[in-house]
Amino acid sequence: MSTPPLASGPDGPAALRPLLDTVLDALTSGARARSGPLPAGGPQAVTARITDALGDVLPEHGDPDALRTLVHALAEGAADPADPLCAGHLHSPPLAVATAADLAVSALNPSLDSWDQAPGASALEAEVTRALARHIGLADALATTGGSESNHLALLLARETHGGVRLVCGANAHHSLPRAAWLLGLPDPVVVPAPRGTLDPAALDAALTALSGPLLVAATAGTTDAGLIDPLPEIAGLCTAHGARLHIDAAYGAGLAFSDRHREKLAGLQAAHTVTLDLHKLGWQPAAAGLLAVARPRDLAALHHRADYLNAEDDTEAGLPDLLGRSLRTTRRPDLLKTAVTLRTLGRTGLGALVDQVCARAREFAELVREHPGFDLYDRPTISTVCFRPAGASDDTVAALRRRLLHEGRAVLGRARLDGRLWLKATLLHPHTRPDELAQLLKLAEGTTPR
Ligand SMILES: Cc1ncc(COP(=O)(O)O)c(C=O)c1O
Repeated sequence: MSTPPLASGPDGPAALRPLLDTVLDALTSGARARSGPLPAGGPQAVTARITDALGDVLPEHGDPDALRTLVHALAEGAADPADPLCAGHLHSPPLAVATAADLAVSALNPSLDSWDQAPGASALEAEVTRALARHIGLADALATTGGSESNHLALLLARETHGGVRLVCGANAHHSLPRAAWLLGLPDPVVVPAPRGTLDPAALDAALTALSGPLLVAATAGTTDAGLIDPLPEIAGLCTAHGARLHIDAAYGAGLAFSDRHREKLAGLQAAHTVTLDLHKLGWQPAAAGLLAVARPRDLAALHHRADYLNAEDDTEAGLPDLLGRSLRTTRRPDLLKTAVTLRTLGRTGLGALVDQVCARAREFAELVREHPGFDLYDRPTISTVCFRPAGASDDTVAALRRRLLHEGRAVLGRARLDGRLWLKATLLHPHTRPDELAQLLKLAEGTTPR
């Protein structure tokens, strides 16, 4: 085999072009072979097809057709968020323009741990992170791999700024928050009740009154289970009154800030010391597209780190930007290129229109559920999540129905335990979903639709 071509350099684009055709053809053929939101047959059938496509993972001699074979297999085995019946998770269908931009990152492979590996990308990241932070009323932001890393960093910055903080979070908080407390060696979190899915301010007040020492309150703007928003202004007021630091996990909800119609729901966000954003949720970015916004850039000093080969003191003094302290990672992709391209291509109003569309689809779906005598609706959506369940069904029946839809490859619905019962969860993030597709989703949840 001759030397394989490279993706960048003068000959890179010419080498990539036919390979991209192969990838695009295989994406098409794989999706056709799947013919639904996810592959039919369950884990065994999927594993068998992937094993078959892979063959010998490390053959003695290469196979020039591997790109087509494996991309086809990946697409055939995908749960495709661009199918409106794939609505289980905060798993958004990425915009084509964002995905195209991401290819440029893979081709050029800049790494944001030192300026000499990413001169342009580092300047771009600095501008874009600051602009996004300011859009939600904070000062600066770090790029992360997603909500979990952002929450982890938020706890780390709190610990480094205030000493051994204790996390106080709602029972509705994302699991990555208590996990980060464990990882950072912090005391066990204090979990405040969240009746009806949002943090109870009276219970928070009582907890903050009873506790002493440095406290970090974590509120949620867009809960994982029901897409609800904690009462942020009230929580911010309590934090001020009790001298507690405030982190808001807006991994889901932050995208509302693009919408004139829905931005108001985030009132109070700007009072936080740190905010988690995640544009691979309500932002239509391919993962990873997380951010941690900070109100006080000086808190970031805790991340400062020297490694002579990356940010030697004399290099920094001579004016080379010092990038190592903007992440816990070393090698790091410029994940914000795709976001910058998206923001510039669609503009705020273009992204806001997508937010409005998915929120409207969720309201319509909730109406369908409410009007259907065979279903109970948990609540009208705050963002784009609708929880519902067949009336009178047991939790086991609800769980089995969801698994059957997965096994048959007909629909991806999520599950959420709320008010002590198991609910089906439709997380509507597909902006082009049509009314008949919403009706089909509900019909499938009846469990009676023939294929
Ligand atoms: C509220 C919330 N925070 C954090 C996360 C974690 O985000 P990621 O999966 O990007 O780490 C999620 C994921 O669904 C979430 O819903």
